[in-house]
Amino acid sequence: MEPARNSGAVEPGFEPRIFMPTPSSAARFYLTTPIYYVNARPHLGHAYSTIVCDAMARRKRALGIETWFLTGTDEHGQKIERSAAQAGRTPDDFATAIASEFRGLWDRLGLTYDDFIRTTEPRHVRGVQHLFATLRDRGFIYKGSYTGQYCVSDEAWVDVEPGAACPDCGRITETVTEENYFFKLSAFERKLLEFYEANPAFMGPESTRREVISFVRSGLKDLSVSRTSFKWGIPVPGDEQHVIYVWLDALANYITALGYGSDDPADKARFEKFWPADVHLIGKEISRFHCVYWPAFLMAAGIEPPRSVRANGWLLFDQGKMSKSRGNIVRAETVQEVLGADALRYFLLREIPFGQDGNFSFDALVQRYNADLANGYGNLVSRVVNMVHKYFGGVLPAAGVDTSAEAALRLNAEKAADAFVRDFDAMNFSEALKALWVLVAETDGYLTANAPWKRPPERTEADHAALQARVLATAAEAIRIITALVYPILPDAAAKVWRQLGLGEISDAAKKAFLTEIAWGDLPAGTKFGEPAPLFPRAEKDAVERMQNLEDENSRSAVEAASRQRAAQENLDPPPAVAPAPAAASPSVVSVQPGERRVDAEAVTAHTAAPVDGAEPIVSIPVKPVSAEHASSRLSSAPVSAPSSEAASPVAAGGLAGEQAAGPQTISIDDFVKVELRVAQVLVAERIPKADKLLRLEVDLGYEKRQILAGIAQYYEPEKLIGRKIVIVANLAPRKMRGLESNGMLLAASLPDGAPVLAGFLEDVPIGARLK
Ligand code: MSP
Repeated sequence: MEPARNSGAVEPGFEPRIFMPTPSSAARFYLTTPIYYVNARPHLGHAYSTIVCDAMARRKRALGIETWFLTGTDEHGQKIERSAAQAGRTPDDFATAIASEFRGLWDRLGLTYDDFIRTTEPRHVRGVQHLFATLRDRGFIYKGSYTGQYCVSDEAWVDVEPGAACPDCGRITETVTEENYFFKLSAFERKLLEFYEANPAFMGPESTRREVISFVRSGLKDLSVSRTSFKWGIPVPGDEQHVIYVWLDALANYITALGYGSDDPADKARFEKFWPADVHLIGKEISRFHCVYWPAFLMAAGIEPPRSVRANGWLLFDQGKMSKSRGNIVRAETVQEVLGADALRYFLLREIPFGQDGNFSFDALVQRYNADLANGYGNLVSRVVNMVHKYFGGVLPAAGVDTSAEAALRLNAEKAADAFVRDFDAMNFSEALKALWVLVAETDGYLTANAPWKRPPERTEADHAALQARVLATAAEAIRIITALVYPILPDAAAKVWRQLGLGEISDAAKKAFLTEIAWGDLPAGTKFGEPAPLFPRAEKDAVERMQNLEDENSRSAVEAASRQRAAQENLDPPPAVAPAPAAASPSVVSVQPGERRVDAEAVTAHTAAPVDGAEPIVSIPVKPVSAEHASSRLSSAPVSAPSSEAASPVAAGGLAGEQAAGPQTISIDDFVKVELRVAQVLVAERIPKADKLLRLEVDLGYEKRQILAGIAQYYEPEKLIGRKIVIVANLAPRKMRGLESNGMLLAASLPDGAPVLAGFLEDVPIGARLK
């Protein structure tokens, strides 16, 4: 039965209408996230794309469109193989553990993916081999030999000189010569340009479109699509020495998950129904793979390319892309625990114009949460629901006759809804929410202007009751419209509000395609409201600190776990958990693991000296303290740790007073071996905004990559450090500076003026080698 409408009698000239457009005529919608590498645990950067897709999928479903939302994990390749080896696990085990973290997190965040594909699953392996064989059978794959620079981190061949850094990520490339299978990408240069021309909506935003077109225009070379130098991948059918290039493997997930390559009629039907994908949502740095290689592979295989690829920008934290290698990640769980998943969803979609990079900070999050959710929408709902309970016993009154104020609010609702739908469906989520929050503010203003809680003496009780009924029914109506529209972004809050409005379960409404027809006045008079319940409790001052603490705790335990693992791999006893040095500690004071003793950095300051105890030291610890006069050239640890104040000397040298005061000191060999000195190669070196003295380095230890912050910015040009082999203290407890984590310390000689000279070697030494 149609519910009775609760639209007030209408003033002449005002025609109520069903004003929520139904934008898509398509009956089905297929959207995908990138599949996530399993070399790192999920963080907010990963959650971002998955949350955007979830919001889109929820809206499509609530519009009655049959929707398929795919996500998953990318588990093959050299990068994963190496990460697994570092962790002392098989790639299979390692991938399974991280994949289940991704999936578990998506579940805890309530993300409504329809399928989660892992590239190690048989259905995917079968589909990829089928695709490879099809490309080969159709003449687009041939065998050849190739020498080039390979970036393991990006799993991509790059066009640079041997030994040069990858132009995309700055890491040093490796020279690889292999007999490989090649895909005839060069044959697709013109076809792709024609395709882009004919499908202007294929890729976006505009910056991505321009970049991709100029990449293709600059000429396409054939692409190596197999590797023989490692094993962790899908074997080339019929030539099992080769594994299939990880990007060909990964991109194919979008079709293998639908059933491509399977003979099962149900799989075939699903593929027929959902392919081509409507939207591949990706990060901007992987546009080339999705907008060039992927459509070319598909065209070559005789499969239609996807309808569109949309690139999101990066989530930045402390000025840099949030990523594991930078050590500046924030986990979605932290925000969920303190403010709830809806707050995270709202913030990401409202704060960052989709397609652009956006800063994430706990301060901005809490501010936005309090302003828009706690004081804005949450407060509005609570006022209205409470007043309906207070004045009408929890039963929605009939609105009665509209005045111009109600007509104005209704028109504003119409405008806001139109703008919301237009912007949301164009993936301008931030604009969409902005428009809807104008309606939140207007509804709030309407309530305040009419003040149904206050009866002026000149107003009769009957008139006041009529005003209360009209105002509360109108405000409740506006809330219903706002809630329905915002449901894909705030599913938990919308579900609570729906119940409070007496409308039952919003998920049931969504199943009945309630967004196709949201008309003003559909909230019937007589509806029994649910109990008021808090939606977004105001975040108190300590919310930021709580989130920060959760993150610090987490990174501490991750580092401890890693260090225990390293120790186990080296057959050492696992070191005890080490508390991080307090933020306020002097930069020259560092904690050294393993061992409980906190050691002054000067105690690990080394100089070139004779072998100690018959060992063959390259660097030895001074047996006697070095006096100031003799300390003209000393090896010292450049302060990676913590100048909580940057006023600290760029090297941790200088203060001999402590040693002299303490009198001569010696340490035993046992003490020395506690300090893990290793050769590392600098992969990335860059300045840190607003920190004149610090450089951020990414160094390769062979078995792992680290971020180290070093106070050498005044003495070394970052570009000159890239590729250089240095010595680091590898088992130093991590420190946070400027929000970035530093995991180690550089060794440098300290000149009399305090200038550091980094320790190095005359002979070539392998990275990761330990100094003993
Ligand atoms: N495995 C490939 C994708 C294959 S798709 C066929 C990959 N994986 S990834 O784990 O490195 O990144 C997955 C997605 O997460 C990318 O779209 C990437 O842009 C996104 N993000 C990772 N860190 C991010 C931010 N800090 N901000 C926004 N998105 C980021 O690439």
